[in-house]
Amino acid sequence: MTICLDDLLCISWFQAAGQHFSLRPLHGDLGVEVIGVNLKGGISPELHAELQKVMHTKDLLLFRGQDLEPRDEDAFMRGFPHNEQAVASENLSNHYFKDWRVPDHKLVAVQFSGLKLENHFGVTSEKFNLSAKNKQAGISFKTLWHMDLAQNQIPPEWVSLYMLQKPTNGGDTLFASTVGAYERLSPDQKKLVDSLEVVNRRPDSFEGTFQIDETGTWTNDPVQASGRVDLEPSRRFEYTQPFAIRDPYTGQKSLLYHTRFFHCFKGYTRAQSRAIIEEVLLPAIAPENTYRHEWRNGDFIAWSNRKIVHTSTDPEKYADEARLFHLVFLDSQQPLLPASA
Ligand SMILES: [Fe+2]
Repeated sequence: MTICLDDLLCISWFQAAGQHFSLRPLHGDLGVEVIGVNLKGGISPELHAELQKVMHTKDLLLFRGQDLEPRDEDAFMRGFPHNEQAVASENLSNHYFKDWRVPDHKLVAVQFSGLKLENHFGVTSEKFNLSAKNKQAGISFKTLWHMDLAQNQIPPEWVSLYMLQKPTNGGDTLFASTVGAYERLSPDQKKLVDSLEVVNRRPDSFEGTFQIDETGTWTNDPVQASGRVDLEPSRRFEYTQPFAIRDPYTGQKSLLYHTRFFHCFKGYTRAQSRAIIEEVLLPAIAPENTYRHEWRNGDFIAWSNRKIVHTSTDPEKYADEARLFHLVFLDSQQPLLPASA
């Protein structure tokens, strides 16, 4: 049953596996708040299957007021299609966070700044403090629109963030639908993007990479944009990916975008590539088309990483404040499907 009071306040009730839950849309087609589901201790496979159906069409699920441990996050995320072999091994997508992974649940990475962490599920503050580390290096992070690990040949399909301690000042996350970006295109534009291949390149430095900050402004400052210029030859790469991809579950088309490693479209100059990106992506990240999430402690959000780009708001505003959250990048075995296939 669904009751709509207006375009923005529309609540649907569901019953799955003897459990009732309701859905409150967050912004247009992007995201719903799931009301009435407690993820602590795990949920039934039937309820998870029902929530997956919602995920496939709404692309982002928000659960407020959760009191979770890493095992709960791990269990919920593993309910989505994934690469069990990768997840069961040490060779996880989140190897970037290897010093900050929860020892008993390595799928879950702990991220924090501005506080002393004493044995938080086995992770301590001696290992990592982003704010202090960046300050020491004189680095100021610029916030950038991105998909998590979209530069990987098989990017994660599902990502989650669980907020344990939000900063008191700022720290919102913005989400924009790249399905929406695709659907807004004209037939000619769709034809063009369906034919494009992205050249991802990890050069000697990040100088010259294309990056869009939270305001839709381009930046190619290598330090501001990425926070580091550190690449030894063995870490360089270059390969192509489709730009327009097809969702295997719904057939929807979306655009794959990672700011940090996007070099150009194959066969196009960098100036032409930038013009295409601006034309197709900037409308999607306009405030009227994005969902801005104001975090509360206990919020758990899982989203469809290949259908949404996201960014934080300016980290300078809360650089000195205590902040603690968990991240999961769920390894996938689903190759990218070109939209044109
Ligand atoms: Fe991210």
